[in-house]
Amino acid sequence: MEALELASFAHIVFFTGAGLSAESGIPTYRGAGGLWGSYDYESYACQRAFDADPNKVWDFHDERRRRMAAADPSQAHRIIAAVGQSHPSVAVVTQNIDGLQQRAGSTDVIELHGSIWRVRCACHPAPQEDLGVPLEPRSCPGCGLWRRPDIVWFEDPLQPEPIARALAALETCDLLLSIGTSGVVYPAASLPEIASRRGSRCIEINPEPTQVSSWYDTHYREQASAALSALFPAFDFG
Ligand code: OAD
Repeated sequence: MEALELASFAHIVFFTGAGLSAESGIPTYRGAGGLWGSYDYESYACQRAFDADPNKVWDFHDERRRRMAAADPSQAHRIIAAVGQSHPSVAVVTQNIDGLQQRAGSTDVIELHGSIWRVRCACHPAPQEDLGVPLEPRSCPGCGLWRRPDIVWFEDPLQPEPIARALAALETCDLLLSIGTSGVVYPAASLPEIASRRGSRCIEINPEPTQVSSWYDTHYREQASAALSALFPAFDFG
């Protein structure tokens, strides 16, 4: 596997999905052991489910918070953070809600699907950080309404600010590394095609082929940490 020369690229984008956190022990959504194989998203991850039974949905998300809080960033998260600290233009665009990339040291992560570590309520729509494990209280102390996780559930629209920032990054990058995403959840899944159509260098890191593999000129069928260690040996903290 070639090592990448950071100075050869003006603008770098890491586009990441659940596979990036798999080595931290966070289950992916699809495939073997995937979350949606055990949990029906219509009962746990959409506004309708929350409206019908908010405690059931919060129990599910509190369990996810517990697991994510107990996890450590992987070598892959740390290499991405180190690249970001060593190059003047690196954007990290993630579909992950776990906050592990920030805990690895990345200071500016574009969270397309929000964060499980923020909450909002109908009365106070501005999201507030909440690191409680479990969330306590589940109702807003100010207005008494239910607080919900500031994440993009099924059927929710994406927030305009992260999508605008992601588009800007994809429209200017000359190197895109997509890591650990199945590429089936739109509109997020469509973003890498922007860089691909522009002729950017596009690398996919995923042990499995995906529905969007054809957008990439190079495929590394490896775990995220192994591939990133080989591509960025200067940041191999192994
Ligand atoms: P998926 O669970 O759909 O896909 C995870 C991908 O990671 C699969 O293609 C795996 O082959 C790959 N993978 C597994 N282990 C890996 C490893 N160690 N290194 C690299 N790749 C690995 O996750 P996403 O594509 O992120 O949405 O899913 C997209 C969205 O669907 C999520 O953001 C979530 C979910 O419903 C919301 O929660 C809104």
